[in-house]
Amino acid sequence: MNQADIGLIGLAVMGENLVLNMASHGIHVAVYNRTTSRVDEFLSGRAQGQPISGVYSLSELISKLKKPRRVMLMVQAGSAVDSVIEELIPLLDNGDIIIDGGNSNYRDTIRRTTDLNKKNLLFIGTGVSGGEEGALKGPSIMPGGNSKAWPFVRDIFQSIAAKVETGDPCCEWVGDGGAGHYVKMIHNGIEYGDMQMICEAYHILRQIISMEPDEMANVFSNWNKSELDSYLIEITADILNKKDEESGKPMIDLILDTAGQKGTGKWTGIDALQLGAVATAITEAVYSRSLSALKEERVAASKILNGPQYQPFNGDRDGFVDDVKNALFASKICSYAQGFQLLSMAAAENGWSLNYGNIALMWRGGCIIRAQFLDRIKDAFEKDNQLPNLLVAPYFQQAIENAQNSWRNVITTAVTHGVPVPAFSSALAYFDGYRSAQLPANLLQAQRDYFGAHTYERSDKERGKFFHTNWTGQGGDTASSAYNV
Ligand code: 6PG
Repeated sequence: MNQADIGLIGLAVMGENLVLNMASHGIHVAVYNRTTSRVDEFLSGRAQGQPISGVYSLSELISKLKKPRRVMLMVQAGSAVDSVIEELIPLLDNGDIIIDGGNSNYRDTIRRTTDLNKKNLLFIGTGVSGGEEGALKGPSIMPGGNSKAWPFVRDIFQSIAAKVETGDPCCEWVGDGGAGHYVKMIHNGIEYGDMQMICEAYHILRQIISMEPDEMANVFSNWNKSELDSYLIEITADILNKKDEESGKPMIDLILDTAGQKGTGKWTGIDALQLGAVATAITEAVYSRSLSALKEERVAASKILNGPQYQPFNGDRDGFVDDVKNALFASKICSYAQGFQLLSMAAAENGWSLNYGNIALMWRGGCIIRAQFLDRIKDAFEKDNQLPNLLVAPYFQQAIENAQNSWRNVITTAVTHGVPVPAFSSALAYFDGYRSAQLPANLLQAQRDYFGAHTYERSDKERGKFFHTNWTGQGGDTASSAYNV
C-alpha cells in the first residue's frame, strides 16, 4: 500500500472507531497500539478490507506516513500523552504534526503546543465528542493548538466530522494553544449540567406525581419534538423504556443511584472559580454527583433526617408535566449562558479570539450535547459575537419570559415536597441575580470594611473611588490594600 495519510496511536474504542470513520472516507490510516496484539485483532476484525495498515512500533509508524507527517494520539489523557510525545519527538522532522484527541487538560495542551513549537513540531489538542458512535459516524471535533497545522488536517477532520442539515461540518479551528481542549472542557461541563437537569426533571415526575418509567419515556419522547429536541433527551426516553431481560422490570429501577465522574466537569468548575465566572449549573451538577456517591451515608441519614410528609399531588397533572418541561428549558438556557460567559472570560484571560457562533455550530451535531436550540445560540452570537450574556438575546429573553411562571412553580412544588432540585433552583437564582440591578453586596462590602478595613465604593460617588469607615469609633482610619479576584 502507498504511504498512509495519517497515523493513529491507541486502539481503544474511540481510537478504533475514528480510524474506521477515516477509512470510510477513503483516508489511509496507519495504526499502532502499545499492546500490539490489539493491532492484529483490529486488522483481522473490524479493519478488514479497509485502507488501514497495522504497524508494531512507533518508528515503523513514522516510516509509513506521508510528509508532513500527521500522528494522532488517542491515548489516556495525562502522563501517557507526554510519554508518547517524548518517544515521537526524535522520530519526527520539522513541520510534522502531533494531534492529541483525548480529553486532555487545556493547560497541558498549552504547554505541549509551546514546547513542541520550540522543536519545530506542530501540535494540535483537539476535543472529540460523541462517544463511540460519534467517533464512528461523525463526531464533533474542536481543534486548537498551533494554527500552522490546521491547513494540513482540515480536510481530514472536516470530512470525518458530523454535518449539520446545511452540510456544514461540526469542526472548525477554535484557536491557539489550549483553546480546542478548553472548548471541549466547557462542552463536558455543559453536558454535566444538561444531564443533572434531566435527572431533576425525572426525579420530580417520579417523586411528586408518581409517574412510572413507561409513561415518562413518552413524556421525554414528546419533549424531544419541542425546543428541548436533543440527544440527551432522546436517550433518556430510550433508557426509560428499557426493561431488564431477566426480571422484566424497568432497567432504570435496577441501577444504583451513585454517579461516577472522570473529572472534566470538576475542571470546568475549578476554572470558573479561578476566573471569577458564575457557572453554578455546572458546579451544582458536579456536587450532585459527589452527593450521590455517598450512598451508604445517605441511606443511614434517610432514617434519621425527616423532610415534609408525603402529600399526594392533586393539581393538574398534565399542566405540571408542561411546567417541568418549561423549567428544564429555562434552566438549560441559564446553564448555556453561564458556559458561554465562562468561555469569553477564558478567552480574555488566555488571549484567544473565539468565534462563539462557530462553537455553537460545532456542538450542533455529533457531540453529546447536540441539540436543536444550539441553532438559536449560533444565531445570537452571529448577530453579536460580543453578546455579554445569552439571557439578553431576544430569543432567550422571550423563552425565559414564557417559561418563568412554570419554572417558579416547579421549584416551589419541589421544595414543598422535599425533592432536591439544585440545578433548577441555582439556575433560577442565577437568573434572578443577573436581572437584579440591586443585590445585597452593599451589606457584604460594609461587613468586609467593618472587620478588615477592606474599603467599599459608594453608590453616590463615581466608580473606582474607595472609602473606609471607622465603624466602631475604635478601629483606625487605615484601609487595607485592595485586590480583587
Ligand atoms: C463526549 C463525552 C466524553 C466524556 C464522557 C464521560 O463528549 O463524548 O463528554 O468525552 O468523557 O461523557 O464523562 P464523565 O465520566 O466525567 O461523566
